[in-house]
Amino acid sequence: MVKSLRGMNDILSEDYERFTYFINLATEIAQKYGFHFIETPLLEETALFKRSVGESSDIVGKEMYQFIDKGENDVCLRPEGTAGVVRAFIQKKLDKAGGIHRFFYHGPMFRYERPQKGRLREFHQFGVESFGVGSVYEDATMIMMVADILSACGIGYKLQLNSLGDQNCMPTYRDNLVSFIESVEADICPDCQRRKATNPIRVLDCKNEKCQSLYTKAPKLINALCPECESDFTKLKKILTDNNIAFEIDTNLVRGLDYYSKTAFEFVSDDIGSQSAIAGGGRYDRLVEFLDGRATPAVGFAMGIERLMELIVMPETSREGYYIGAMDEEALDLAVSLTHQKRKSAKATCEFKTKNLKNHLKGADKVNAKFCCVIGSNELKDGTIWVKNLEAKSEKVIALKDF
Ligand code: HAM
Repeated sequence: MVKSLRGMNDILSEDYERFTYFINLATEIAQKYGFHFIETPLLEETALFKRSVGESSDIVGKEMYQFIDKGENDVCLRPEGTAGVVRAFIQKKLDKAGGIHRFFYHGPMFRYERPQKGRLREFHQFGVESFGVGSVYEDATMIMMVADILSACGIGYKLQLNSLGDQNCMPTYRDNLVSFIESVEADICPDCQRRKATNPIRVLDCKNEKCQSLYTKAPKLINALCPECESDFTKLKKILTDNNIAFEIDTNLVRGLDYYSKTAFEFVSDDIGSQSAIAGGGRYDRLVEFLDGRATPAVGFAMGIERLMELIVMPETSREGYYIGAMDEEALDLAVSLTHQKRKSAKATCEFKTKNLKNHLKGADKVNAKFCCVIGSNELKDGTIWVKNLEAKSEKVIALKDF
């Protein structure tokens, strides 16, 4: 039997209900915030991700679904959504047009990771990207939007916050960090030894316990921010506090993608095991320029839908619509026609097998119908239909013209 690939799941039945419930809810909230839908291709040139997510990142270095297509193009399945949205933003010349552009998207992302609970090779994100607003109020707005979406889903969270500085303070900090790493180099893991050369700040979120104990003495960027980054970060903390959004400062939060500057944040849940990040994002003021666009400040986030599906509290579903069935073969045609008419204004399902009343009632219950409607030979003769309201538990026979 051919099975789905490792780390790639089908979404159906109850899962699909959760999935669409989340998408609808998040869409509604993003629209309230003034964001517009954008769809970008699943397949992009590999160079796009190398230049944005960064060659030193695990995502590009180890996890890309990359191949040469029939036209000899080096392409890959998108591992995340930001790069494609930035490419589209530049390609449509919105950078040159200026002004504010706010987008949201959802869809599958692909990372060749080692699958485990909460970590898939094909997973779905809901994300937003905002272009043209350099103010830290926009960073706060992003965080408020995630918090609103999570609260609407009944999901508790912890918010972790950091500032990654900008081109003024980051280079000096990086040099200081490299000097520190050199002082402990003999004792750190091979991955961190490699990161020292490729992307030193990534050592800070190394999962190796020994490395972590050594890095407690590492210099902290938060203590070395330039006045502008410092003032933005102070302002962000104030806005969040004023709006009752609790946060923790995590000086080791560096994010796994290279494009961030200034604000970086992650929402985590204690209720889903080790893959606890349910949303992540931050500011990326240099990325549009890196991808050959006109310099444009930008900030965004993405949420992992599969992880959220574990946590969503679904509203109670009430019974809805009609289940229509026949007890005799000759009543079936009428049942089909009545169902077709009812569907113009309501949810309606038709049972094509003739059954006794008890089994029709079971069938109606299974599809969560509000009304179980059955036609037998008597009803067919009289031009009537038997209707039971499964909520009110009342039943009656009514004329077809009144149905
Ligand atoms: P990210 O932190 O790599 O950020 O991913 C965002 C979310 O996607 C994570 O918090 C997690 O919930 C989910 N996720 C990531 N990898 C997996 C996986 N293998 N299996 C299941 N869920 C996963 C980004 O992708 C950035 N593009 C976010 C962003 C948008 N930053 C600015 N704008």
